[in-house]
Amino acid sequence: MLHLGLSLTYALALVSGALAVPSQQLHTRQQPFKSTVITTHNEPWAIAFLPDNRILVTERRGNLRLVNVTTKTAGTITGVPTVAYAGQGGLHDVALHPKYAENSLVYISYAESGTGGAGGAVARAKLTLDANGGGALSGLEVIWRHSQRATGGLQFACRLLFGPDGALWISSGEINQMTPAQSMTGNLGKVLKLNDNGTAFAGNPFASQGAVPAQIWSLGHRNPLGIDWDAQGRLWEVEMGPMGGDEINLIESGKNYGWPLVCEGKHYDGRTIPAHSTRPDFAAPKTAWVPVISPAGLIIYKGDLFASWKGNAIISALSAQALVRVTITGNTTKEAQRISMGKRMRGIREDKDGAIWVIEDGTNARLLKLTPN
Ligand SMILES: *[C@@H]1O[C@H](CO)[C@@H](O)[C@H](O)[C@H]1NC(C)=O
Ligand SMILES: *[C@@H]1O[C@H](CO)[C@@H](O)[C@H](O)[C@H]1NC(C)=O
Ligand SMILES: *[C@@H]1O[C@H](CO)[C@@H](O)[C@H](O)[C@H]1NC(C)=O
Repeated sequence: MLHLGLSLTYALALVSGALAVPSQQLHTRQQPFKSTVITTHNEPWAIAFLPDNRILVTERRGNLRLVNVTTKTAGTITGVPTVAYAGQGGLHDVALHPKYAENSLVYISYAESGTGGAGGAVARAKLTLDANGGGALSGLEVIWRHSQRATGGLQFACRLLFGPDGALWISSGEINQMTPAQSMTGNLGKVLKLNDNGTAFAGNPFASQGAVPAQIWSLGHRNPLGIDWDAQGRLWEVEMGPMGGDEINLIESGKNYGWPLVCEGKHYDGRTIPAHSTRPDFAAPKTAWVPVISPAGLIIYKGDLFASWKGNAIISALSAQALVRVTITGNTTKEAQRISMGKRMRGIREDKDGAIWVIEDGTNARLLKLTPN
């Protein structure tokens, strides 16, 4: 269990069980929280909290589950459309409409098959819960699609987030097509700001350029898997780079984040990519990771339960098998702590009480509730 990298003092303290882990220690092997296993899932991707404290969990093969936290059981929500389960694709995110209590609308993102391969789609539907711990989606309406499809099943992303002004934000991956992330004729590799019905939000930066550009808030993204707001109303995003070059970005209206023209990583075949410093006209990441951590989810922590983490970014990371805590000071970010979880971490959300919920990746993946020790 003890790791070669541990300092002797730390190792001895771990053995004696006496040490509180210093908050600034970067690689934390003793978890600074209590972790409660709620349910186990098959390839989960995302979670969303219902007002009755139950939790929707998406599973990539196309199952939407309803978790009762008290009984630690998961029922099924029927009516999910057929998803393109291949590569990284399948059922992805789930989010509640800001007025869910009135309209019962739930949004899902997923990969769908069609001519030319698979692309991302976002649909909304009415969720009706039954008395047996399950429910159904009805009146499903696809409100957004990737403007292009591709074979390979990679980098769909499509994280969904409602903003303070009620807009629907989609972090659209470039489905491994690279240059379309720079093209204003398509919506791949972009952060998009839409109305709740999928039309472009009024006042978007490229609204004068036509219907597709009107969706776009920012461009030049690769595989943007996490987006969240900070307390000042700024939007932060994490995205996976190729071989090296995972990023956390401050997302601003009309900015170009440079993929695939600049990146701190390399292509998988070893070809180099110019660094961000060569093109100051593109927005550079606030932090880039080489080697990668594989960021798959992001929250900006807002609660009081983990008081010293307020305002920090917390990233669920796949290859790092960790929660990566990043401090934000003004416009600067810094990795402060890497909490080893021993599993690839797929998703992260904060509940209204400030507890942090995470889901592991893959089969037999656990939904965990994290609360202070
Ligand atoms: C969770 O299950 C318990 C036990 O069956 C039940 O009493 C409770 O109402 C359920 N929670 C919700 C929100 O349905
Ligand atoms: C979509 O929503 C916007 C904003 O609420 C509204 O102005 C527009 O009419 C709606 N479009 C359709 C087709 O429902
Ligand atoms: C932070 O970024 C914003 C927007 O780009 C800019 O207006 C502001 O001056 C920056 N602040 C600092 C301290 O660099």
